[in-house]
Amino acid sequence: RTYKVGYFVGSLSSTSINRILAKALIRLAPSDLDFVEIPIRDLPLYSPDYDANYPPEGAALKDAIGAVDAVLFVSPEYNRSIPGALKNAIDWASRPWGQNSFDHIPAAVIGASIGAIGTAVGQQSLRAVLSFCNARQMTSPEAYIHYTPEVFGDDGTVHNAGTEDFLRNYMREFRDHVVRVLTVLPR
Ligand code: FNR
Repeated sequence: RTYKVGYFVGSLSSTSINRILAKALIRLAPSDLDFVEIPIRDLPLYSPDYDANYPPEGAALKDAIGAVDAVLFVSPEYNRSIPGALKNAIDWASRPWGQNSFDHIPAAVIGASIGAIGTAVGQQSLRAVLSFCNARQMTSPEAYIHYTPEVFGDDGTVHNAGTEDFLRNYMREFRDHVVRVLTVLPR
């Protein structure tokens, strides 16, 4: 069988290096993973006032998560934390109370930065939030990607054998994690 992965790009930038990283990950992933982006751009800012009647963007987000087997977060670090747009999307998906879309979902986080520590601090924030949302996160391997244009082509090609192997292995481990979680917690 194949596994459907919904991926979040935590950046709204038209030149996002994390979108480039997502392209590379899709290229290098095992062939039994199918990918669909779960968009976050058009969500209004979440308010509990919407709980009784989600707007179409909020409902579409929850439907999209409900339709996949697993989620992958590919995100920059903003001020050592989660970009607001991504946090907003997570808040939408976690509500209304009792209808948390992330409950028991297989998940992984990864991110790229132009800085040397490659989103390491931001990922800890994101992991804490996803823990509270009860997502089943892959805890190892971790992946803190230092982006340089020499290594990452805009089309998702990777021009460094070591980086390419590392990312391919990360996606293989993610697939194995998804399979393990779904064995115990089928969706
Ligand atoms: C950044 N950047 C950044 N980088 C980092 O390594 N740690 C950080 O805390 C921050 N903080 C931060 C805040 C804000 C508001 C911006 C706009 C940027 C730099 C960041 O890594 C760089 O802009 C990346 O290109 C962002 O990823 P995307 O949007 O290109 O995917």
